Amino acid sequence: MTFGLGDSSNERAEHSAEEPASPSSRSDPEPEPENLDHEAPSASVGPSSRVSVVDEPAPRPAPPSGASEEEYRWHSYRVYPSGRPDAIEFLDVYKSFGRARILRGLNMGLPEGMVSMIIGPSGTGKSVCIKHMVGLLYPDRGDILVHGRSVPNMPDDDLFEMRKKFGLLFQDGALFGSMNLFDNVAFPLRQHTEKGEDEVEDIVMRRLKEVGLGDASDKMPNELSGGMRKRAGFARALVLEPDIVLFDEPDSGLDPVRTALLGELILEIHRDMMEEAKAKQKPHLPTFCVITHDILTARRVADYINVLWRGRIVEAGPSEDMLNSDNPFIRQFLSGESQGPLTMD
Ligand SMILES: Nc1ncnc2c1ncn2[C@@H]1O[C@H](COP(=O)(O)OP(=O)(O)O)[C@@H](O)[C@H]1O
Ligand SMILES: [Mg+2]
Repeated sequence: MTFGLGDSSNERAEHSAEEPASPSSRSDPEPEPENLDHEAPSASVGPSSRVSVVDEPAPRPAPPSGASEEEYRWHSYRVYPSGRPDAIEFLDVYKSFGRARILRGLNMGLPEGMVSMIIGPSGTGKSVCIKHMVGLLYPDRGDILVHGRSVPNMPDDDLFEMRKKFGLLFQDGALFGSMNLFDNVAFPLRQHTEKGEDEVEDIVMRRLKEVGLGDASDKMPNELSGGMRKRAGFARALVLEPDIVLFDEPDSGLDPVRTALLGELILEIHRDMMEEAKAKQKPHLPTFCVITHDILTARRVADYINVLWRGRIVEAGPSEDMLNSDNPFIRQFLSGESQGPLTMD
């Protein structure tokens, strides 16, 4: 749990300064009435039923106002079914910053118990999506559901509780420079629980070992490599046993070998958490959401892929389906070819 730490505190201040205080007072800078009655493709079974089981494209939504059909020609809006309920759903979400329209009628689901990716070029709004999930940003229009509950409509107390479901891993691990690794990882436990120091130590050491930092607990962040700092951030994101873990570009700044290792670590920890959730019969299976612009990471790590472009999902589904997509844009994008008939501009 890293709220109030590092860059997230800026976000919060920024939010209160720039964003409407509550969804009820939010303004609608970009009314797009022609889109109001368009259902999400994944909502062909209705937003109340959280399992996407229908493999049929819904009627094609109109492009956002001010955009042409041509600009959205590769958006098939196809959603291959995951067969699972969505832990997180975006329902027709619009978000602009001044004149920059970032989310433009976004419909997206992250299925429970899977490692999902949101992949798209830099500046498409991937981090903006994460901030909506945890209520650090509010949509101009539309809704974001976490385990079926609307985040923008949540009272502050509930939002605070809901955030405990989340583990967040920021780009550089966002560690406190003045604390050693042990204290960094212990911080959420000391802040949010009544656990005694013995129990805190057990949990912290278990998590540090899990990410391969069992021997480094007394090291200061500046004594660590970038990869180690990320793993420490990972350990800290896990100490409160979150149901949902969000990784914002965990691979940025790492060399290819360390990127591969981090990918393996993410999968390993997800498997462990799945087993634990089943053994403990937890109400929700662990959901990971990894944001990246690295195609290789996506191919290696993802169970489920959302391709975000121009504020909407081009296509989404389990990795096998996506890698076999007959959409030329998706094929080219997921094969990582920078050259080709299509450009992302
Ligand atoms: N709080 C904010 N205020 C103004 N503009 C923002 C804010 N957050 C993000 N943006 C803009 O939204 C766009 C998408 O940002 P971001 O989600 O960070 O992209 P990325 O897909 O690379 O994570 C960028 O152009 C960014 O400048
Ligand atoms: Mg980002």
